[in-house]
Amino acid sequence: MKFFIDSADLDAIAELADIGLVDGVTTNPSIIAKSGRDFKEVIAEICKLTPGHVSAEVIATKAEDMLAEGRELRKIADNVCVKLPLTMEGLKACNQMTKEEIPTNVTLCFSPNQALLAAKVGATYISPFIGRLDDITLDGLELIEDIRTIYDNYGFETEILAASIRNVNHVKDCALVGADVITAPPAVVKSLANHILTDKGLEGFMKDWNATGQSIL
Ligand code: E4P
Repeated sequence: MKFFIDSADLDAIAELADIGLVDGVTTNPSIIAKSGRDFKEVIAEICKLTPGHVSAEVIATKAEDMLAEGRELRKIADNVCVKLPLTMEGLKACNQMTKEEIPTNVTLCFSPNQALLAAKVGATYISPFIGRLDDITLDGLELIEDIRTIYDNYGFETEILAASIRNVNHVKDCALVGADVITAPPAVVKSLANHILTDKGLEGFMKDWNATGQSIL
């Protein structure tokens, strides 16, 4: 399973990349606004931190304008992936980008049928938002499972990029049901390593080791 980082925080992305936990990055207009940075500049800097896909989202609502924006964003770096909304206009733009071999991430997916449409137009990634479904007491994980079944039934190559990941259980659940990619905030990725028994065990090992008076180096 690939790990994408859902953030424009350069330091946090670099730190995780250094550990080997960054296969790509996703952003959205809210993340860019929160960064307070110039959109193209920050995407260019993120693209230098990973050879993987970096999703940059279009703002236009008409397919022709999305295509123009997407082609402009692709000039930033070879690993820019154009993020398109799951609307009929977004699908139309995706269909054309597929023909032009431009990588695409179709976002704001909340139903299996929406994911089916994205696969039909050759999206590189589909982004089902599981946290936002959970927020309204629907089952985000069930959506990932349904999309997995549909894509496997027909051999669609679109990768399931589980998004709106809010906690470590979301990551585990997505891995269990076969999401191809998860995108999560840096804090969630970091907390995957945490376990109270790991901390307690290490503390015990250090105490016993120190009592031996030995050193390895
Ligand atoms: C995905 O690409 C989105 O940027 C993101 O996962 C949305 O997460 P949120 O629902 O926590 O805002």
